[in-house]
Amino acid sequence: MDGHDSKSIFDGFYRLPRSRRVELVGEFCGLDESELDTLTGNRPFSLDVAEHLIENVVGVFPMPLGVATHFMIDGREVLIPMAVEETSIIAACSATAKWIRTSGCISSYNKGNLIIGQVQLPSVQNPERARMILHENRGMLIELANACVPGLVARGGGVRDLAIRTLDRPDSSGKAMLVLHFLCDPCDAMGANLINQLCEALKPRIEELTSEKVGLCILSNLVDTKLAVAEVVVRNIDPVVGQGIQEATLFAKADPYRATTHNKGVLNGIDPILIATGNDWRAVEAGAHAYASRSGKYQPLSEWTMNGNDLHGRIELPMAVGTVGGVTKVHPTARVALKILGVTHAEELARVCAAVGLVQNLGALKALATVGIVKGHMQLHAANLAIAAGAEIHEIARVRERLAEVLKVEKNINLSRAKEILEALRGGPAKRGNPAV
Ligand code: MEV
Repeated sequence: MDGHDSKSIFDGFYRLPRSRRVELVGEFCGLDESELDTLTGNRPFSLDVAEHLIENVVGVFPMPLGVATHFMIDGREVLIPMAVEETSIIAACSATAKWIRTSGCISSYNKGNLIIGQVQLPSVQNPERARMILHENRGMLIELANACVPGLVARGGGVRDLAIRTLDRPDSSGKAMLVLHFLCDPCDAMGANLINQLCEALKPRIEELTSEKVGLCILSNLVDTKLAVAEVVVRNIDPVVGQGIQEATLFAKADPYRATTHNKGVLNGIDPILIATGNDWRAVEAGAHAYASRSGKYQPLSEWTMNGNDLHGRIELPMAVGTVGGVTKVHPTARVALKILGVTHAEELARVCAAVGLVQNLGALKALATVGIVKGHMQLHAANLAIAAGAEIHEIARVRERLAEVLKVEKNINLSRAKEILEALRGGPAKRGNPAV
């Protein structure tokens, strides 16, 4: 499967005019006129729909939506829709996917499919007795839980198991806390609403059975029972680059300060997909960071090692995402983003997220271990500086070009430099001897 089919209809995509990019995405993903209008903003997001999503609506917050290209995941070409404001994420992701495509492969799988609903008994008089009663009634409680979600059960999902945990109360009461975990297959939903409903519905029955008071009933975002795993191999890598990337993993393993930034780079790939598809990125972020701390020390979510001449990467993280329910089906752009991805099930979406996170991380580490991050980032950031300096649409390209030249000579660009360049372009005084103006 490695390095096969390295040519793609998306070669040179970034150089095309936007109208042609939209056409190509439409053709590749089979988008109809109305979906294309949604994508391009010709059909704006309705404030009346927004009114039903959140409270106190006063407007909408537009965010650029791009596609990362060249991804071949498990042998399938996938276009990755990414809603993100940060310069160079999509460029780095696409370039890294292209590199892997020519000399390696990306594979992915799911580990577990159950989400967790917690029912807490905060201060239990007699934990042994309560545990025994709950254990004896385990089957009945699972049945009762499933009766709360008949639609989910009809789709093949539902509660599969009940675990009972005893925790020490972190105060001086000397009492124990019991926590029940209802483990539920949410099928293609993220499952937050389903699991919260069934946990709350079970509260009176659990109180009645145990004669103990129930406290919180809520899902857990530490979904270590529903993990997505992705792996990347880059064959015959330049050994200096490969060693540098391996060394970057060691740094992240040794130092939580570095691990945090390493993981931010991973999430640079994941969050934009979650936002584009209307998924709850805060939930995934919370789960990812908690999972990264599972050993008691905050660790990198991904690991890169040299194996002979090949670089191997692996990531594993909780990924509770949905392709049905919630905002995924209500937000018109999220629906189009899901169609662009071409995923049919939530498990596939989870795997794609893990794979893109790993590839994004590789792109960052490759840059850090070689030329550094500033070069690529600042070249693309020049457009932001031009806009911030006040350039009109027709002036942006020229300011950007000049900034690129300044960057080459001075190794540094900033807003005041962009303002000087703009002023000079408009015929005003150039304050410094600027070779580029
Ligand atoms: C910047 O958004 C992300 C990086 O800092 C990630 C990393 O350092 O690995 C470049």
